[in-house]
Amino acid sequence: MKNTARQNGHFCGAVVVDPAWVVTAAHCVATAISSGEGYTLAPADPEKLQVLTGTNVLSRGGSVRQISRIILHPEFRIVNQQVPTNDIALLKISDAPNLTPLPIASADQAETMLADGEGVRIFGWGTALFGPNNPVSNTLLYTFVDVIGRSKCNTNAIFDAAVTDTMFCAGLGYSDSCQGDSGGPAVGYANGVPYLLGLVSWGVGCVNRGFPGVYTNVTKFNGWINAIINNRY
Ligand code: ARG
Repeated sequence: MKNTARQNGHFCGAVVVDPAWVVTAAHCVATAISSGEGYTLAPADPEKLQVLTGTNVLSRGGSVRQISRIILHPEFRIVNQQVPTNDIALLKISDAPNLTPLPIASADQAETMLADGEGVRIFGWGTALFGPNNPVSNTLLYTFVDVIGRSKCNTNAIFDAAVTDTMFCAGLGYSDSCQGDSGGPAVGYANGVPYLLGLVSWGVGCVNRGFPGVYTNVTKFNGWINAIINNRY
């Protein structure tokens, strides 16, 4: 995704789930609006964002698409000022949408594909290092990470119960997603066919020996996604 307000640059990934819709992390497309003592999270201005499709290279090829709607998950929250929860949003592509979707895994498939030790493939144009001013990658990068089961990921030494059942952990210390990868896919394969399982959501630094990456479990939101795409919302 591109953001006109931020130097016309790449800032997050997204995944096509319907000819006219992409899914991304809600924290990529939300703005905090202060209200009283706290704040509420509202969708960003869709006119300031675009989606680049059809190329693996940011600087070349593909098409830049306008967005007509941003729908945050109604239960998207930032818990304890740092953990995005229900970190998922849908974006509607406005002009002549004819995108080729990546199928989302069913809840049953996800059960098997997200068991402790299973491998998932992650993709993104994010930075190679954690830090304030690192460049994003011009070419799409990918790597494989192993799922860390929720009970292990929630131990005191790791995320101390912060990982809910709509998230999963993957990649501990050898490979990871990083800044600018948020909203991009974690994919599982069944007989060589790719299925969407997760979205890059949060972590502690990148490739941190003590902490895996945390992903939104998209398969927990199949009902919500279908309701919006099929116009029942
Ligand atoms: N929040 C980051 C982003 O906006 C993604 C962080 C993922 N971190 C990790 N260590 N896996 O792109």
